[in-house]
Amino acid sequence: SDHQMDSLSRALLFDFHGVSMTHYFTNNWENVQNFQARPDDILIATYPKAGTTWVSYILDLLYFSKMSCQRQTTVPIYDRVPFLEIAVPALVSGKDMADHLPTSPRLIKTHFPVQFVPKSFWEQNCRIVYVARNAKDSVVSYYHFDCMNKVQPDPGDWSSFLQRFIQGKMVFGSWYDHVNGWWKKKQTSSRIHYMFYEDMVENTGQEIDKLCSFLGVSPTPEEKNSISVRSQFDSMKKDQMANNSTNAVMDFNVSPFMRKGKVGDWKNHFTVAQNQDFDEDYKKKMKDSQLQFRTEI
Ligand code: A3P
Repeated sequence: SDHQMDSLSRALLFDFHGVSMTHYFTNNWENVQNFQARPDDILIATYPKAGTTWVSYILDLLYFSKMSCQRQTTVPIYDRVPFLEIAVPALVSGKDMADHLPTSPRLIKTHFPVQFVPKSFWEQNCRIVYVARNAKDSVVSYYHFDCMNKVQPDPGDWSSFLQRFIQGKMVFGSWYDHVNGWWKKKQTSSRIHYMFYEDMVENTGQEIDKLCSFLGVSPTPEEKNSISVRSQFDSMKKDQMANNSTNAVMDFNVSPFMRKGKVGDWKNHFTVAQNQDFDEDYKKKMKDSQLQFRTEI
């Protein structure tokens, strides 16, 4: 209820096992760590703002669009694909939601860096879809999100937010550590599909094809095409069950959740000086990384 939501407030960041976190994502730590995965569970893992909702929506359509359309028209995406570590007072925890998912496979979302993933996902050899997005668009998207999401830490102004992003002082920690940690893990695990937001924007159909072969599902060309059309930005933005407009902690007067959906919006936010400093620091932080991101397409 609104009254319960009144008690929610912007969280403070603190260091949690070496990662900046807020209590909304650590309160349920023991239970989350003891989560019992099943072999057919699919974990969707991302650093925040990389396109989590987009990939969740695509996977949900791939598995469940034939089953019933009621699911897609009446159940918000955040209930279809629970957010494992979220524990906001007065709301059912993500872990409990995942435990009670009626469907199979279960689609489960996490923003954890790789070392925080509950061990059962590895023991059960679950498939994991990791989505990465270039740092500059990620930080811009994250800034607007923290402005409109009333349980995230106070973002402050853009330039201080950008500084904190560079320092890794964001909820779920450093973008650099996150994308590299998952990339490293992927080198030794064929169960991780590592994909990029920029590729999805450029060619959604091709990325859906790759997802299908990774997941071992074979929709017809018509089904695939329909999923690709339905998951385009404008279509998802209109979908009340996908656009988060029913999410009580988000203030759409500040900005919509489905904000721009573009590659390169960072150019409207970074000053020339900010961009130079960012690039210089980026080169240092990423010098040992094989990862190549596109900041324009
Ligand atoms: P912007 O803020 O740049 O618009 P997440 O789901 O991980 O929180 O990511 C949200 C970001 O993905 C937002 O980025 C949102 O607009 C974008 N997004 C969501 N659905 C999309 C789609 N179908 N096509 C392109 N971008 C999408």
